[in-house]
Amino acid sequence: MWKKHQTLEKNSIWLVIAILLVVSVGGLVEISPLFYLESTIEKVKGVRPYTPLEQAGRDIYVREGCYVCHSQMIRPLRDEVERYGHYSLAAESMYDHPFQWGSKRTGPDLARVGGKYSDGWHRDHLMNPRSVVPESNMPPYRFLAERELDYRNIEQRLATLHTVGVPYSADQIKNARLDLETQVDPFAGEGSGVKKRYGAKVLQRDFDGDPEKLTELDALIAYLQVLGTMVDFKTYKAEDPENLR
Ligand code: HEC
Repeated sequence: MWKKHQTLEKNSIWLVIAILLVVSVGGLVEISPLFYLESTIEKVKGVRPYTPLEQAGRDIYVREGCYVCHSQMIRPLRDEVERYGHYSLAAESMYDHPFQWGSKRTGPDLARVGGKYSDGWHRDHLMNPRSVVPESNMPPYRFLAERELDYRNIEQRLATLHTVGVPYSADQIKNARLDLETQVDPFAGEGSGVKKRYGAKVLQRDFDGDPEKLTELDALIAYLQVLGTMVDFKTYKAEDPENLR
């Protein structure tokens, strides 16, 4: 045994190979069960895939690189929880591709920004952050209010997300365009189906204050307003199986 070990110690290549073998066994034992355990990501009541409009807004969020300054993950530390609200659950970003946890906070965490401000505040803030927060150093995004939302490929977008595991139904994919258009139309009413397909809590209104046009700003604000609002933390308790679907 020691003789054999001596050969290892005297021969650096074999030593490296042996180290890699030992380390990878440890890695496999620790990491691979996570891919198969049901409990790695517990499903939590309320978490649903984004509506087509919210998803389009999310794509703009990613396109504009908002993640460069904003994270979307509240860590279970007292200062974060007191400032931003309940710490983020794994389930809350289970349908995010790519996730937006982030590692840089020039601005505040946005994981629970939904419902914190009115749509009008978001519009003013995105048009000119200094108009509502004088000391802000966030750049303005005025062009979003001008640019009409390009959603020609929204069905394919949802279908692509479906292939990577987001459980969009065939019905949701087929009606993506309709759902996107009716979510910004407060007069579309119950018949429009977006609430039927995505739940009664879906916000259905004109988000950017300009009902004439369906703009990128509509989509982005719809996305910001849903962030962190899917799980009802008034009733959520981590240990209670009632909260898990
Ligand atoms: C250069 C860094 C930077 C970039 C890029 C940036 N922000 Fe900000 N953001 C900030 C800062 C700093 C604040 C805090 C001051 C303020 O409210 O304006 C902020 C605040 C916010 C707030 C208010 C958060 C709260 O809880 O008060 C929202 C919402 C927001 N940003 C959204 C966005 C979106 C959407 C984008 C991309 C289109 C974006 N930001 C891009 C720096 C940035």
